[in-house]
Amino acid sequence: MNQSWHIAVLKRLVLLLGGALAIGLLTEQITLSLLIACTIYLAWTLRNVFRLISWLDSAAESADILEPPSGHGLWGELFDGMYRLMRKQERARSRLKAVINRFQESTTALREAVVFTNGQGQIEWWNPAAEHILGLRNPHDVGQLITNLIRHPRFACYYEQKSYGEPLILPSPVSSEKKLHYSITLYGPENRLLIVRDNTRIHQLEQMTKDFVANVSHELRTPLTVITGYIETLSDNISLLPAPPIPVMPRALDQMQSQAIRMANTIEDLLILSKLETADSQQDLMPVSIAPLLESVANDARSFSGNRNHNITIDCKTDTKILGNSKELQSAISNIVFNAVKYTPDNGNIRLKWNVELNNGYLSVKDDGIGMEPQHIPRLTERFYRIDRSRHASTGGTGLGLAIVKHVLLRHDATLLVKSRPGRGSSFTCQFPQSRLLREAA
Ligand SMILES: Nc1ncnc2c1ncn2[C@@H]1O[C@H](COP(=O)(O)OP(=O)(O)OP(=O)(O)O)[C@@H](O)[C@H]1O
Ligand SMILES: [Mg+2]
Repeated sequence: MNQSWHIAVLKRLVLLLGGALAIGLLTEQITLSLLIACTIYLAWTLRNVFRLISWLDSAAESADILEPPSGHGLWGELFDGMYRLMRKQERARSRLKAVINRFQESTTALREAVVFTNGQGQIEWWNPAAEHILGLRNPHDVGQLITNLIRHPRFACYYEQKSYGEPLILPSPVSSEKKLHYSITLYGPENRLLIVRDNTRIHQLEQMTKDFVANVSHELRTPLTVITGYIETLSDNISLLPAPPIPVMPRALDQMQSQAIRMANTIEDLLILSKLETADSQQDLMPVSIAPLLESVANDARSFSGNRNHNITIDCKTDTKILGNSKELQSAISNIVFNAVKYTPDNGNIRLKWNVELNNGYLSVKDDGIGMEPQHIPRLTERFYRIDRSRHASTGGTGLGLAIVKHVLLRHDATLLVKSRPGRGSSFTCQFPQSRLLREAA
């Protein structure tokens, strides 16, 4: 078919020029005859060009593809070729439109807000849920900076960072009662897909659980103080009795006393945890000197060690301070150091160290105690997680100490790094970011 139009064009030209030449020879007007033939050909070509332009104009204005003008030879082939190309493009466009429609239908049905932003952080598209959850308005907010509409400093920091492993939880920009769960996916050159979920219900349930634990702990405190007081009085005065009413009474009182103390410690730890979860982490921030803090914790740990005689040393060569809450930091580091004393055999070594490296601050406690198997390490900061329950009869632990450490560190933007080998010892390191370090001016 491709070859046929070549031949047809050639035939037509040969016929036209041959005819003109013959007429020219007969009339002895060859030049004029050829000129007339060329003019006819040019006029025919121009007519087809005009038909093509007029067809293209009508096609551009019409929603459908119009049938091409009929033509012969080269022009017929050209009209048909363009018509085929248009049909092909139309089919591809329909397919793409169907995909986009399906995508929009599914995102419209989503209860989560979906927002697309470009490399400059401008909003390009969102689903209807985003209007309800984030208060976006169509078309007013198209092209606005997302950080101007979700005006929270933590959102701006989260948006700018490029790793989005953990979601961000913030109050809604529409109503502070609502708690939203933001997660971002980076795609293409700096484009971002933001998915926002309304987590208010789950947050309320979590809050109810926290309040319940805090209330129960608080309510148990007073009766327990009374019970402990009476047990103490009875224990102290048992020798005054002529003979104990039942033979096991001294031992029973001893055990009651130690269990009551353990229960009181658990309640205190639960109350500390609930306070850490509810109090504003930005309150009471001050520059905390680490050397005196380590000194005080080491002294407490030495008295706790007593005649178990641990060798507790401090290595603190920098006077860089931490911007934080002194009481909370002391409680966290005490928990780690007291663990080291508990889980290191008599005469063992415990080293407290504070140093700054590559802009991060490292507060570490290293012991050469019993250590632990690697599978326990990721679970250590869970509430009530204890490696060996039988160990706790002797150490009196509750399994809340490292949960408190985790919360304190979270409130200081710090992370806990744990290394341990069974029988060789453990190291617990709190890593503080540069934003929390205050260096003395030289
Ligand atoms: N330095 C350490 N060496 C070995 N094991 C440790 C060390 N520190 C913690 N652990 C293990 O981690 C578990 C959790 O510690 P955590 O401080 O949370 O609880 P605990 O010491 O049992 O109780 P609490 O501190 O509330 O009295 C402990 O039960 C212990 O098995
Ligand atoms: Mg502990």
